[in-house]
Amino acid sequence: MERVGVLTGGGDCPGLNAVIRAIVKTALPNKIKVVGIKNGWKGMITLDATDLDLDAIAGILPKGGTILGTSRTNPFKNKGDVEKVVDTYKKLKLDALIAIGGEDTLGVANKLCKENKGLNVVGVPKTIDNDLNATDYTFGFDTAVNIAMEAIDRLHTTAESHHRIMVVEIMGRHAGWIALHSGLAAGADIILIPEIPIDLDEVCELLRKRHSRGRLFSIVAVAEGAEFKAGQVVTKEQQLDAFGHVRLGGIGETLAEEIEKRTKFETRVTVLGHIQRGGSPTAFDRVLGTRFGVKAMELAMAKKFGYMVSLAGTEIREVPIEEAVGKLKTVDKAFYDMAKTFFG
Ligand code: F6P
Repeated sequence: MERVGVLTGGGDCPGLNAVIRAIVKTALPNKIKVVGIKNGWKGMITLDATDLDLDAIAGILPKGGTILGTSRTNPFKNKGDVEKVVDTYKKLKLDALIAIGGEDTLGVANKLCKENKGLNVVGVPKTIDNDLNATDYTFGFDTAVNIAMEAIDRLHTTAESHHRIMVVEIMGRHAGWIALHSGLAAGADIILIPEIPIDLDEVCELLRKRHSRGRLFSIVAVAEGAEFKAGQVVTKEQQLDAFGHVRLGGIGETLAEEIEKRTKFETRVTVLGHIQRGGSPTAFDRVLGTRFGVKAMELAMAKKFGYMVSLAGTEIREVPIEEAVGKLKTVDKAFYDMAKTFFG
């Protein structure tokens, strides 16, 4: 093992730099060179890479985003791109490639392994959405939850002053983890997630009940992927990305309009958007990213390819990459039902 490549793909998230730093810090004492691939799989198609030495990783631990850049490029989309990826791997004389990403980036890694393209791949799970299977948590999630929690705390005071309903739209794609965790942590009065269709009658009834007992303000936390009962996902545009995902967003606005129309309570909407993905990682995400990075490098050195590092309870383990992709990890009904104790 002499040269290991590392790339970060998909939406960025806090903690990526902690992983990169841990990979380099584990590799160098073992006389292994680390090559940083720029902008995810795109850099493997265009051969855009840089050496990662101690200088390159100095001071990056508290930094959000990724020093390598990222993209949502799918090499399996355009003819000839997979061959370019294989070519870059050979030209850079890589012995292994560590792919840090979510379902899409790791899906590509898995396909490259399955199709025996000659690439030795190790995966590291990343996403604020926490929707990856085969790991209890992904780094980035804790930071996003804390940002959303603080936002809801702040919305509480202005909601109370103005006797308003505040609808807050929270990221998470088709999983309600961020909305549920931040909503619970900040005491949202109603939490709506993609796993359970929104019943507008129920939502308005809860809000009216709160009003009737003198609570003249309410916080409604809604996940961006939530859908109305017998309705469709509200999308900003129907355009799909390279992995076939629609861009979500807009449910908060529609929900706020419906609530105001039906209850006549003054309602406002806040869309947290990419603020949830920006800035410095929490201690939890820095430590999880660090543990993942060390373990990923250990797997590469042990020539254990086709595996992804994962958190099981408090332990860092490895699981076949294919266990993580293909099916999303969504919120279970029992957890949501528990949260309902605090609704209204
Ligand atoms: O997967 C992470 C995520 O932030 C989702 O929560 C969100 O739906 C999506 O990425 C936004 O993607 P983009 O950064 O391409 O707008």
